[in-house]
Amino acid sequence: MAKLIKCCSIVSIVFGVILIIVSIVGLTLFPKLVSNKVKEKIVLRKDSDSFKRWTKLSVPVFIKFYLFDIQNKNDVFNGHKPIVVERGPYVFRQTREKLDIEIDELNATITYKELKGYYFEPELSNGSLSDELTVVDVPVASLINKVSGSLLGSFGVSSLNEILKAVEQTAFNTYTVEEIIYGHPIPVLQKLDEQLSWFGVQFLSKVPKKFGLLHEKNLTASDSLTVNSGIHDVNDLQKVIKWNNEKKVSFWNSDYCNMINGTDGSRFHPDVKPDDVLYVFNPALCRSVSLTFDTKTKVENIETLRFQLPEKFFASRRRETDNNCFCTKEKTTCDYDGLLDISKCRNDAPILISAPHFLYGDIKLIDSINGLQPNELYHKTFVDVEPLTGAVLNAARRMQINVHIKSNENIQ
Ligand SMILES: *[C@@H]1O[C@H](CO)[C@@H](O)[C@H](O)[C@H]1NC(C)=O
Ligand SMILES: *[C@@H]1O[C@H](CO)[C@@H](O)[C@H](O)[C@H]1NC(C)=O
Ligand SMILES: *[C@@H]1O[C@H](CO)[C@@H](O)[C@H](O)[C@H]1NC(C)=O
Ligand SMILES: *[C@@H]1O[C@H](CO)[C@@H](O)[C@H](O)[C@H]1NC(C)=O
Repeated sequence: MAKLIKCCSIVSIVFGVILIIVSIVGLTLFPKLVSNKVKEKIVLRKDSDSFKRWTKLSVPVFIKFYLFDIQNKNDVFNGHKPIVVERGPYVFRQTREKLDIEIDELNATITYKELKGYYFEPELSNGSLSDELTVVDVPVASLINKVSGSLLGSFGVSSLNEILKAVEQTAFNTYTVEEIIYGHPIPVLQKLDEQLSWFGVQFLSKVPKKFGLLHEKNLTASDSLTVNSGIHDVNDLQKVIKWNNEKKVSFWNSDYCNMINGTDGSRFHPDVKPDDVLYVFNPALCRSVSLTFDTKTKVENIETLRFQLPEKFFASRRRETDNNCFCTKEKTTCDYDGLLDISKCRNDAPILISAPHFLYGDIKLIDSINGLQPNELYHKTFVDVEPLTGAVLNAARRMQINVHIKSNENIQ
């Protein structure tokens, strides 16, 4: 009987790279401003031009999905290294519109939600939505992890094994790109739900019927954000004050790690200098990040400063003690450079975020999968900021979503 993941080295349990998301903002609409006018022009005063531009983004944003296609699924079950081929990009144009906007003039704050639309761009994509790929199945991997660690013990594991056999699924399944991105049913959950309902248990009432990277995301209102409008102090412009009405997050282990810092990343304060540290609160990561100066750049002949997500962001808690409080659960994964475990803010789904191809990651991670080639040129995250206004003229936010599959001898 083939076992799921027989090998037992620590690193081998941290694979299951499923995808990379690259989002690029190309901000071409840039009003030419003279220095002394800048501050009054950029604040978010109701009915101003900047307010209109902020409400409905008119510049192009693209989301590019790169998916890792696993070539040797059956060998992986027998303990071999996965061999992956990167497919894509599958490119979506993103539209962004703010809604439910509430302005509080007294406190200089604006509370809003954002509606993001996603439109497939076949011309910009390398491949079609009907391509078939073998990828890590996030719902199945989550179930395996959940059941193995639960009180159900070996009974739970063997039941899950039976169900997986009945629906002919494993932790790696083949889907079309359309299914992976738009969403597909989750047969194992449906079967489990059926079986449990015999006992009158409604276990899965809240579990979604489908899983997909953009499932229930298209034109769906986001969480609410409260930001500063800058009308009192332009240096506070677009700083995030609250996320879903909370002034800090609660996923991490200390007040420091739980701080909500900085803007939403679409702009920064005016008069940006190379020795500044730029803070961004990133709801996708459930945390604040800091960007540091890299080099001078030009975007369409406008001089800009490039700030990047520094290597130390990815450093293990051993090398960077400030990262210790981001280590919540899997003590083993915290000791590797390159990983951020966000399972606590993903309903315990075993999700780890890294830079694409484990850039800046531990060599053992990179070596645990055949087919990775980290390269700063393609895989790092940066923003090009026009220093006078703090506007972001070009940016690439790049991340890889990894699924942590614990080895379990009893699951086939
Ligand atoms: C398109 O994808 C194929 C494999 O799916 C790859 O070999 C090729 O390099 C890609 N082309 C570009 C321009 O990315
Ligand atoms: C505005 O600020 C005051 C004082 O900090 C606070 O009591 C009040 O609740 C705030 N109003 C809103 C709508 O957040
Ligand atoms: C999002 O919704 C729009 C409008 O209904 C549709 O044209 C588009 O294809 C949808 N995109 C995705 C990814 O579902
Ligand atoms: C939050 O910002 C402060 C400076 O305002 C900084 O000292 C602190 O390190 C930041 N915290 C995080 C988690 O980024």
